[in-house]
Amino acid sequence: MKRGLILMVISLLTASLAIAQTFGVRKRPPKPHEYGNVVINNYSEKNNIAPVVFNHWLHRAKYTCRLCHVDIGFAMQAGGTGIMEDDNKAGLYCGVCHNGKEAFAPEEKDRSGRLKKNCDLCHSYGREVEFKYDFYEFVKKFPRSRFGNKVDWLKAEERGLVKLKDYIEGVSIRRKPLNIPLDTELQAKEVGMPDIIFSHKKHAVWNGCEVCHPDIFGIKKGVTVFSMQDIFNGKFCGACHGKVAFPNTDCRLCHTKDVF
Ligand code: HEC
Ligand code: HEC
Ligand code: HEC
Ligand code: HEC
Ligand code: HEC
Ligand code: HEC
Repeated sequence: MKRGLILMVISLLTASLAIAQTFGVRKRPPKPHEYGNVVINNYSEKNNIAPVVFNHWLHRAKYTCRLCHVDIGFAMQAGGTGIMEDDNKAGLYCGVCHNGKEAFAPEEKDRSGRLKKNCDLCHSYGREVEFKYDFYEFVKKFPRSRFGNKVDWLKAEERGLVKLKDYIEGVSIRRKPLNIPLDTELQAKEVGMPDIIFSHKKHAVWNGCEVCHPDIFGIKKGVTVFSMQDIFNGKFCGACHGKVAFPNTDCRLCHTKDVF
C-alpha cells in the first residue's frame, strides 16, 4: 500500500514536471527570486522601451492579493490587464501606488530639485538595474519552504514578518467582513492518495472572498468539479498554485490528510 502510493506519487511527479516544462516559454524551473515574476510586454518593445518586470514577492509582502486583483483590477494572467503608461499616469493600475506617495513615481524631483526618472525600475527586462530591494536579503529571516520562492508565506504572515495592507483610499470600499466557512475536506478520489484539507480561513487572509468566488469556484459545496490535471493546467487551485502561491510539485502541502 505504502509503496504503491510512493510509486504513484513519483510517477505523477515526473509526469507533472514534464508537463510543466512544455508550458509557455519557461524552459527551466524559475529560481526563488524569479518565481511569481510577471513580464508585461503588450506595448513596451513596440514603443522602444524595455518590457516591464513585476515581482510578486515584494508586492505580496506588503499587500493582499485581493487589494490588487479585486480593488485595483489587475487580471490574474500575465499581460491580461493591458496596462498603458497613460493609465498609470491617470492613477490607475501601477499608478494607484506608484504616484510618489505610496511608492516611487515614474518621474520625481530629488532633493536638489532635479528631475529623476524611474523608468528603468519598472522597464527592467534584460537590463542591468540597481534595485532598492534584493530578494535574498529581503527573505533572509522568513520561514523556509521547499519550492517556489522557498518562503513559507503563511507562517511569515502569521508571525507578523509581513504585514498586509488590504485597503487603499480611493480604490477600496469598507465592507462588513463575511463569515468564513470552516475548513473543508476535498476528496482526492484515488485510492492511497491523501485527501486535501482546504482552509477557507488561511486563504481569506490573502484572497478575501472575491478573488475565488464566483469566478474560480462556485459558492456551493461540490458544484465545481475538477481534477489534478486541471490544476496542473493552471485552472482552479492552479489559478494561483504554480504561478504565485506555492507550486504543485509540493504534493504534500495540499494532500495533507493522513491515509495510514
Ligand atoms: C511603476 C512602474 C512603471 C514605471 C515607473 C514606468 N512605467 Fe512605463 N509602463 C509600465 C507598465 C506596466 C506598462 C505596460 C507594459 C506593456 O504592456 O508593455 C508601461 C508601458 C509603457 C510604454 C508603452 C506605451 C504606452 O503608452 O503604454 C511606454 C512608452 C512607457 N511605459 C514609458 C515609460 C517612461 C518613459 C517611464 C519613465 C518616465 C515609465 N514608463 C515608467 C509601468 C511603469
Ligand atoms: C501590488 C499588486 C499585486 C499583488 C499584491 C498581487 N498581485 Fe498578482 N498580479 C499583479 C499584476 C500587476 C499582475 C500582472 C497582470 C498583467 O500582466 O496584466 C499579476 C498577475 C498574477 C497572476 C498571473 C501570473 C501569470 O504568470 O500569468 C497570478 C496567478 C496572480 N497575480 C496571483 C496573485 C496572488 C495569489 C497574490 C497574493 C499572494 C497576488 N497575485 C498579489 C499584481 C498583484
Ligand atoms: C498596491 C500598491 C502598489 C501597486 C499597485 C504596485 N506597486 Fe510596485 N511597489 C509598491 C511599493 C510600496 C513598493 C516599495 C517602494 C519602496 O520601498 O520604495 C513597490 C516597489 C516596486 C518595485 C521595486 C523597485 C526596487 O527598487 O526594488 C518595482 C519594480 C515595482 N514596484 C513595479 C511595479 C509595477 C510594474 C506595478 C504595476 C504592474 C506595480 N509596481 C504596482 C506598491 C505598489
Ligand atoms: C482560494 C479560494 C477561495 C477563497 C479565497 C474563498 N473560497 Fe469559498 N470555496 C472555495 C472552494 C474551493 C469551495 C468548494 C469547497 C467544496 O466543494 O467542498 C468553496 C466553497 C464555499 C462555500 C460553500 C461551502 C460551504 O462550506 O458551505 C461558501 C459558503 C464559501 N466558499 C464562502 C466563502 C467566503 C465567505 C469567503 C471569504 C471569507 C470564501 N469563500 C473565500 C474556495 C475559496
Ligand atoms: C486565489 C489564489 C488561490 C487559489 C485559487 C487557491 N489557493 Fe491555496 N493558497 C494561496 C495562497 C496565496 C496561499 C499562501 C501560501 C503561498 O502563497 O504559498 C495558499 C496556501 C494554501 C495551502 C497551505 C495552507 C496550510 O494549511 O498551510 C494549501 C493546503 C492550499 N493553499 C490549497 C489549495 C487548494 C486545495 C486549492 C483549490 C481548492 C487552492 N489552494 C486554491 C492562494 C490560492
Ligand atoms: C494546490 C493543491 C494541490 C497540490 C499542490 C497537489 N494536489 Fe493533487 N489534488 C488537489 C485537489 C483539490 C484534488 C481533488 C480534485 C477533485 O476534486 O477530484 C487533487 C486530486 C489529486 C488526485 C486524484 C485524481 C485526480 O486526478 O484528480 C491525485 C492522484 C493527485 N491529486 C496527485 C497529486 C500529486 C502527485 C501532486 C504533487 C505532484 C499533487 N496532487 C499536488 C490539490 C493539490
